[in-house]
Amino acid sequence: MSYNIALAPGDGIGPEVTAQAVRVLNEIGKRFGHEFKFTEVDAGGVALDKYGEPLPEETVKICKDSDSVLLGAVGGWKWDVLPGDKRPERALLGLRQALGLYANLRPALLFDALKDACPLRSDIAAGGIDIMIVRELTGGIYFGDRGRKQTDLGEAAWDTELYAWDEVTRIAETAFKLAEKRRKKLTNVDKANVLESSRLWRAAVLEVAKKYPSVELDHLYVDNATMQLIREPGRFDVIVTTNMFGDIISDEASQITGSIGMLPSASLGAGGGMYEPIHGSAPDLAGRNAANPIATILSAAMLLRHSLSLEEEALTVENAVKAVINDGYRTPDIMSEGMKPVGTTEMSDLIINKLSVD
Ligand code: IPM
Ligand code: MG
Repeated sequence: MSYNIALAPGDGIGPEVTAQAVRVLNEIGKRFGHEFKFTEVDAGGVALDKYGEPLPEETVKICKDSDSVLLGAVGGWKWDVLPGDKRPERALLGLRQALGLYANLRPALLFDALKDACPLRSDIAAGGIDIMIVRELTGGIYFGDRGRKQTDLGEAAWDTELYAWDEVTRIAETAFKLAEKRRKKLTNVDKANVLESSRLWRAAVLEVAKKYPSVELDHLYVDNATMQLIREPGRFDVIVTTNMFGDIISDEASQITGSIGMLPSASLGAGGGMYEPIHGSAPDLAGRNAANPIATILSAAMLLRHSLSLEEEALTVENAVKAVINDGYRTPDIMSEGMKPVGTTEMSDLIINKLSVD
């Protein structure tokens, strides 16, 4: 089979890590007889520099016409001074919206061989951490009505959290389906003790729950959820939550696995999905062969699984990554005593070597 993939390397370490994921996909193509055709597009700071806008129409068009999108990272100090609608981050938000990517899957997995990297006390993490965060991605306060006005207390500004019933039921469906395939436990995170939007959200989740009797559902207020994540991470399987709560909670979850350089993400909707590492553009690491390519390589594995339905190929990539980690190779972000230090390219070479071994 032949697949079209739009490649948006972006800024900072983005181009380095996506280049490695492309090598991995090409190797998978060779082994399993697929052809991946990559079309490079500009998004983020790189597009701002070239065209004066973070997300050119051409980029959106190519991404829409592709089977799926692989993105590196966007942003950097250079563009931090620009107004909201001209920041590189607009490229991400714009792509999510234009491609209708309402479901953001953010797995937080503590690799056995990386247990030392977990900042939690060892007895707390002993049972392992394997959480799938399902974040709503095209609604809520990120996209609600906003504005500014004059008041007696000076200038005021507002952003609106608004969720429609169907927006909640579709993300809940995604979460229940994932929970069914995992440990059959779903935690809904909201703020229903205060917010009307959360009360509607919770009612919609409860409605969808009727279709999934085998999944155990519980509810946590977001403040409590952030606490339970560090108190008892093993209690979580799948989490479903709003755009903003998901943004916050997924950063917390990534930290407790101690390795943001290892974590991939998938953004899914009606059509092809978009895949990117959870980490940012890390401009201080750019061009030094020091970035960890694994988050992007694992994002490519998620692309194989979720957009192209190539499960065996996805598992092959994931197993190769595990094997190299088990062999003791480490990029600087996950280095610990007695392990073997490698750079971006060497790490990818090692993973690629494992891909051809049965
Ligand atoms: C994320 C990021 C983005 C978000 C920013 C860069 C717009 O923090 O993907 O988690 O808030 O969604
Ligand atoms: Mg974030």
